[in-house]
Amino acid sequence: MSTPPSSARGALRKLRSGRNQKTNVCRLIHGAADGWAGLYIDRLADYLLVQSERPLTDAQQQTVQSLRSNLKSKGVYHKHLNRQIQNTSKSNASARLIMGLEAPEFFEATEHHLRYRLSFNEGYSTGLFLDMRENRHRLLSNLIEPGFPVFDRGVGAPKILNTFAYTCSLSVCAARAGAITTSLDLSQKYLEWGRENFHLNQLNPDDHDFIYGDTFDWIKRLAKRGEQYDLVILDPPTFSRSKISGLFRAKSDYGRLAKSASALVRKNGMLLACCNAATLSPAEFKADVRRGIRDGGRKIVQHFQAMQPKDFPVDQQEPAYLKAFWLRLN
Ligand SMILES: C[S@@+](CC[C@H](N)C(=O)[O-])C[C@H]1O[C@@H](n2cnc3c(N)ncnc32)[C@H](O)[C@@H]1O
Repeated sequence: MSTPPSSARGALRKLRSGRNQKTNVCRLIHGAADGWAGLYIDRLADYLLVQSERPLTDAQQQTVQSLRSNLKSKGVYHKHLNRQIQNTSKSNASARLIMGLEAPEFFEATEHHLRYRLSFNEGYSTGLFLDMRENRHRLLSNLIEPGFPVFDRGVGAPKILNTFAYTCSLSVCAARAGAITTSLDLSQKYLEWGRENFHLNQLNPDDHDFIYGDTFDWIKRLAKRGEQYDLVILDPPTFSRSKISGLFRAKSDYGRLAKSASALVRKNGMLLACCNAATLSPAEFKADVRRGIRDGGRKIVQHFQAMQPKDFPVDQQEPAYLKAFWLRLN
C-alpha cells in the first residue's frame, strides 16, 4: 500500500476512531491493505457491519470486540461475502446480528453533517455506499479539487440528473449545494427512501423530481425533449437487466451509456462516470468513457479521476475497484 501523507493519516485515524464529529459512518477495516485479508468492517452510526469470506477466527472476533468497545457500538452484524472483494458491498446476503443489540428497522447515520436513513433489513445494501463519501462531498462543497468546481455558472440553480440514483444520497448533496435534482432509478422503494433522505436534510422532495424507470429508456426520452443538465451522474451496477432496455454489462456497454448521456450535458456541463466493476481496469474504463463521449460528438475539456477514499486503502492483493471520473464537456 502506498503511504498517505501524515495529514491524511491523521484524518483517517480521526474518522476511524469516532472523533470526527461530522461523520459517523466509515470503513474501519478494508481487507488485505489494512492487514486483514478477507475481512471488512464498517461503522454505521451505532452499529458495526462485519463482512468476511469465512467464519470469523478468534483473532478477528477479538478485533471486532475491541472496535465495538472503542466505538461503544450497540450491536454487531455479520454478512458472508462472495470471494471477490469487488462484489462485497453489493452482496445480496442479508446481515445477521452476532453481538449486542438489534438495530431498529431503520436508523440514521451522519456524513458531513448530513443525515441518511440506513437499514440492515433491506438486502442489497444498507442505504449508503460508503466508498462514494468523497464524491458526495465534492458535490456538497461544489469543489472537485482546487480550481475545479462542479457547477461553474453564476446564475440560476444548476440542474442535475442522477441516474441509477439508489437512495439518492448524491442528489441530497447536490440539492444542499443549491441544485435542482432529478433522481432516476428502477426501484420505487429506493426512490421513496431517497425522498426520506431529502426530508431528513430539510429539503422538500416535492421541489425535486424522482423518476421511477429505466435509465437507458429515460436518457432517450429526456434527450428527445431537449433536456440539458449541468451535471449527469452515471453509477450503474456491473450488470443490469431491464424489461425495456435488456441487458447492460459495464464491461462491454459503458461506452454507449456515456455516449447517450453526453447528449444531456449542457455546454461546459459535467459528466460524473462511476463504475465499481472489478473486471474493468481504470485504463479500460477511461478509454470506454472517452470513446463514448467522442462518439457523441463531445470533447472533454477538464477532468479529474477520484481515488478510493482513505478508509478503502488499496494494495497489490486488492487493487482499487472503484472508478470515478469527473469530466467537463465542451
Ligand atoms: C450502484 S447502485 C447506485 C449507487 C448510487 N449512485 C449511490 O451512490 O448511492 C445501482 C442502482 O441502479 C439501479 N438500477 C439498476 N438497473 C437500472 C436501470 N436499468 N435503470 C435505472 N436504475 C437501475 C438499482 O436499483 C440501484 O439502485
